[in-house]
Amino acid sequence: MKSILEFARARRDLKPIVVVTAYDALTARTVAESEADAILVGDSLAMVVHGLPSTVHATLEMMVLHTAAVRRGAPDMVVIADMPFLAHRKGLEEATRAAGALLQAGATAVKLENVAGHEDVIAHLVGSGIPVMGHLGLTPQSINQLGGYHLQGRSVDEAAQLKADAKRLEELGAFSLVLECVPTALAAEVTAALTIPTIGIGAGGSTSGQVLVITDLLGLDAKFRPRFARRYLDGHGEILSALNNYARDVRAAKFPAREEVIA
Ligand code: KIV
Repeated sequence: MKSILEFARARRDLKPIVVVTAYDALTARTVAESEADAILVGDSLAMVVHGLPSTVHATLEMMVLHTAAVRRGAPDMVVIADMPFLAHRKGLEEATRAAGALLQAGATAVKLENVAGHEDVIAHLVGSGIPVMGHLGLTPQSINQLGGYHLQGRSVDEAAQLKADAKRLEELGAFSLVLECVPTALAAEVTAALTIPTIGIGAGGSTSGQVLVITDLLGLDAKFRPRFARRYLDGHGEILSALNNYARDVRAAKFPAREEVIA
């Protein structure tokens, strides 16, 4: 997809939207060659790329750096960048500055977690020409309050709150929203109640689209295997085997071969 208008079109035509994260130019270039619709420069990069303990540690500087790299790799694709921890909670001016920096780095849109307490920010960004994607359910920036990466929206009250928040996001002008780790039935209800598309992760198959973290999809982490993330490749195994083949070839004097030597 080249613009967020295609999100609305896909929702209208009930065409599933395929989103995947990317954090660097080369991966973004490969995603752009694929059949995926859009790239999310998720603040998951704090953990995936930088080895930090949670998304709380992603900074605006990191998000800008990786967004710019992704945009260079995928010049024509919708790129959504996460507003990092607290960026949308420090008032209108700070939020506008952060979102502006992400757009100037190459993002088409920004994604921000939750809605209560920063409705004014969402409305202001949308009114300023910055497309906003919401993020409800498991919102990892609140991990210290949630106490872990658990399914959200299980109680009647939580489900009602999530539905109200989703509706509020739509009213405020969000073009789409991520539903992370919520019961399938709740995700289906929210999706049916909205005209904007929902993008699910761990939210079942009734959302308007899906998003996966690229390292989960490619199986790059042997230890981290969330149940909802299908592995389309044993990336860890393949890379390990390639590295071992290289090490063995060097030690056996099989690499470089004659045709690999620059005379
Ligand atoms: O940061 C991220 O990668 C995300 C997705 C998991 C939705 O927010």
